[in-house]
Amino acid sequence: MTNTLDLITEKAHINTVHPNALNWPEKISHEELNHMSRLTFEDELHPREAMVYVTKELAQLAEIEKHVTGVMSIVLSELQGDAVQSLNDGHSLHHALSCFAAEELHHANMFYRYVRLLSGCDFKYADNLYAQRVALYQGDDSPWIKLAALCCSAYIGESVITVFEHRCTALDPERKFFITQLLEAHGLDEARHIQIDHYVFDEVIPRFNEAELRRMKQIVNATEELNTELSMRFGKHAAETFSCDFAAGNKAMQTQIELTLLFRELVFGGEGIQKVDAALDEVQQKLVENFSYQQHIHTQKLAG
Ligand SMILES: [Fe+2]
Ligand SMILES: [Fe+2]
Repeated sequence: MTNTLDLITEKAHINTVHPNALNWPEKISHEELNHMSRLTFEDELHPREAMVYVTKELAQLAEIEKHVTGVMSIVLSELQGDAVQSLNDGHSLHHALSCFAAEELHHANMFYRYVRLLSGCDFKYADNLYAQRVALYQGDDSPWIKLAALCCSAYIGESVITVFEHRCTALDPERKFFITQLLEAHGLDEARHIQIDHYVFDEVIPRFNEAELRRMKQIVNATEELNTELSMRFGKHAAETFSCDFAAGNKAMQTQIELTLLFRELVFGGEGIQKVDAALDEVQQKLVENFSYQQHIHTQKLAG
């Protein structure tokens, strides 16, 4: 079993981009803002709205990533006391989760910097519900339940941003724009996170009894509720900060909401836990394909 995790993390030091290594521009050009308008509104008439929308989304994502790091640290610490599951033998699981946690903090750092570059303002939001979101994972539940709940929740956001990354690449195949470079750098790590999520779906969750599964779903639902609240708060804060309605006519935002609700329903709305690509029906797959120009959401890009 541990072999799977070792294979996932084998090239983690190569298939990654440190925030310092990105080719940070001094300023985001008008041409790139027009491109961002095409990405989100499907025309070039909304560069400012597109800027505010991307600022809001990535600032909020940075908060969610910091939460993943915080909760992973709790799980890693509590797993020290778990001698029951062979999955915890040796260093493989510890290493995989540590890489996951460290990468998410790098992402938060990368997006934090990007948001300031893009918006030209020190966009901060204090009421980020961090304490409430972490509190869900500070009870006496087993660390396996906490790990599974965290991965289920992270998996939704990771799947949605992967669809956006594919759209960015499709509309900028030469990677001329910084947003494409940024999301692709992020996606290198995310491809491993998805595989770790899938590992947890395959190896950890099936060992739960009914009560444990129910408890895991409770924590996932509570996390997702707080994430939704966070999203609304960030939306309001961004609209006020920039005096800008970025939502009306925003095709990317509509798709994002639609995909988030759909993925939640598909992944943990039923009896067991599903992987997104396997769970999409033809109509849903078409929706993903029309937006991202790619048939599959999660492709294997670990080898090499
Ligand atoms: Fe991330
Ligand atoms: Fe991730």
